[in-house]
Amino acid sequence: VTVYVPRDASALSLGAESVATVIAAEAASRGIDVRIVRNGSRGLYWLEPMVEVETAKGRVAYGPVQAGDVSGLFDADFLHGGEDVLALGPTEEIAWLKSQQRLTFARVGIVDPRSLEDYRAHGGYRGLAAALKMAPSALVQAVTDSGLRGRGGAAFPAGIKWKTCLDAGADQKYIVCNADEGDSGTFADRMIMEGDPFVLIEGMTIAGLAVGATQGYIYLRIEYPHAQRALVAAIDAAKTAGYLGDNVCGSGKAFHLEVRMAAGAYICGEETSLLESLEGKRGQVRFKPPLPAIQGLFGKPTVINNVVTLASVPIILDRGAAFYRDFGSGRSRGTLPLQLAGNVKRPGLVERAFGLTLRELIEDYGGGTASGRPVRAVQVGGPLGAYIPVSQLDTPIDYEAFAAISGMVGHGGVVVFDDTVDMAAQARFAMEFCAIESCGKCTPCRIGSTRGVEVIDRMLAGSTAERERDEVLLRDLCQTMLAGSLCALGGMAPFPVLSALDHFSEDFEKILNPLP
Ligand code: NAI
Ligand code: SF4
Repeated sequence: VTVYVPRDASALSLGAESVATVIAAEAASRGIDVRIVRNGSRGLYWLEPMVEVETAKGRVAYGPVQAGDVSGLFDADFLHGGEDVLALGPTEEIAWLKSQQRLTFARVGIVDPRSLEDYRAHGGYRGLAAALKMAPSALVQAVTDSGLRGRGGAAFPAGIKWKTCLDAGADQKYIVCNADEGDSGTFADRMIMEGDPFVLIEGMTIAGLAVGATQGYIYLRIEYPHAQRALVAAIDAAKTAGYLGDNVCGSGKAFHLEVRMAAGAYICGEETSLLESLEGKRGQVRFKPPLPAIQGLFGKPTVINNVVTLASVPIILDRGAAFYRDFGSGRSRGTLPLQLAGNVKRPGLVERAFGLTLRELIEDYGGGTASGRPVRAVQVGGPLGAYIPVSQLDTPIDYEAFAAISGMVGHGGVVVFDDTVDMAAQARFAMEFCAIESCGKCTPCRIGSTRGVEVIDRMLAGSTAERERDEVLLRDLCQTMLAGSLCALGGMAPFPVLSALDHFSEDFEKILNPLP
């Protein structure tokens, strides 16, 4: 019997390792032959560790399972889908999962991340097979036609970035994967790397063929040791099987891939400081132009894309650009893996076509707040994303719709807060975060963020007249940071601050006029 126990970092933090050990021991003591596969997470985090069993009727799930539950599960004959209080039924029938549109995450939680054979058995490397029959310009065109935009947050059209790099003449080009997932409340990159590392390797190989790059680097968040192990094992397997190396699948084309551990700084997720760090220097932002696509790593043309962007490429090549483009709304094509976190009953990974509303995500998937109190604010797009008030929860999740309400979809992180949140404290946090993480290169961010913290503190301590004067000053400072910062850190820190002022101004008055 095959039993799946996730090795995903979140599942491990909830006890998955001891669950796997106890299942093996219990099976041995009962003389039952069990094969334990350490899969990634299906993304239903409130049910982790979620154990699945392969039965005649397909995979059935149990969760959340703790080590102490295991002997009871054996008594209930869970190896044959037996009934138990932890039984969740056939995994694919769980409504939360069934209503999703998993394209990029098609295999995450399903396959054995250490098995190239399993990857291939689930449609893996079909995208590369198609790509190997295409000219570089046709490959770039397919990505352009798919409408895929950068999933790291900036939403720049991937095909246009690739074309810039393809057209740049050079003796050496690089593909760099930005896996320094630093936004609070985000975990999509990690889930892919831990649960389906081959899809990232395949996507990067296709990118290499498309632009003529022979070397790739994955710049991996230092706090992701499990992803590192999964990636290194998968790269080794891909090399051994001829999918990486000097002669990819006998095509005569080379593509090599290595993992580099990141420096542990938020700013190293910004593409140019990432390149500095990858070159062994201090992670400080570079001026643009030149664009990395023209002069990037070691001064050579470089495609830098986020994990989710690159992991979305194989399905586009396999199923065709039109298949992918048919999902989505407006200029936001395809699907987005949303990461639902914070104060929700059912946190996890929801991959859906663009166009789902924030309310549907939070209520239908999230099940409302974990505290049972009303939702008050939702931060979308990481620590520098705007706070969305309840009155805007019907906004569809698409890049343009969010821009229209001065928000941003970013990397798809959604963090929910209930009515106990102190929005003045959240605004202060954004400025403080910026002050701590600033690379120090430009004045609006380096000095502005520190002044921002001071002004907010003064607003909270001052009289009404002083507060009104300081709000003018704070808004002015935000405009300076928005317009004058060299990169997105200083350029976006004002978003949470301004949204807190615009939608939750009462929180800035509570010291003098305490709320009931
Ligand atoms: P950007 O808008 O300056 O650039 C987007 C990308 O397009 C870059 O890779 C840039 O080099 C490229 N590009 C622009 N014009 C091009 C052209 N003509 N040809 C080829 N390539 C071109 O945005 P940036 O600074 O790269 O990213 C900011 C975003 O990062 C924010 O919106 C935020 O959502 C996101 N972010 C994500 C985090 C995460 O953990 N995933 C953390 C912090 C921020
Ligand atoms: Fe550095 Fe901040 Fe300027 Fe970005 S905005 S370059 S992090 S000082």
